Amino acid sequence: MTEFASLIRAVPDFPKPGVTFRDITPLLADGPAFARCIDALVEPWLGSGVQAVCGVESRGFIFAAAMAQKLGAGFVPLRKPGKLPPPVMHADYQLEYGTDRLEARVGTVRQGERVVLVDDVLATGGTIGAARNLLGQLGAELLGASVVIELLALQGRALWPREIPLHSVLHY
Ligand code: PRP
Ligand code: MG
Repeated sequence: MTEFASLIRAVPDFPKPGVTFRDITPLLADGPAFARCIDALVEPWLGSGVQAVCGVESRGFIFAAAMAQKLGAGFVPLRKPGKLPPPVMHADYQLEYGTDRLEARVGTVRQGERVVLVDDVLATGGTIGAARNLLGQLGAELLGASVVIELLALQGRALWPREIPLHSVLHY
């Protein structure tokens, strides 16, 4: 575990009983710790010719945009439905009750563009799986993905293709 892990607060029974919420806001509020977290996220991708960092709305945006600046790459938002003007492509994913959707604006990722996918948390893996699907539809070359936190008990990694790197900075 990295030292900035101590700034991620475990909140029991939030947002519902039995769930431990990992609150990243104390980490974000600490400038040097946030900077070290971004350094840890970009480290696997240095020198790999990343052209765009694709962040998942909403907490993924915080990390992806900072990473894009460090890597000298563009930032592409993968958004919740109805936020982006057409034309968009979409990918759906399962929630505990019902489904949700991510959308990307056509043209924000070019065919064959070298991209990295970023989110704050890997839990069941549904969100990042939909994001990967969407980037595939857009014709991106997905170099891999990075998350700040991997919740090991939920086994989200099992849904991710083994041949594509998936880096997590912290594990619980
Ligand atoms: C949270 C988290 C990840 C996702 C992980 O997002 O930020 O994006 O869940 O869960 P999964 O691996 O089970 O799919 P959420 O949509 O709850 O909210 P946010 O808008 O605050 O990012
Ligand atoms: Mg999220």
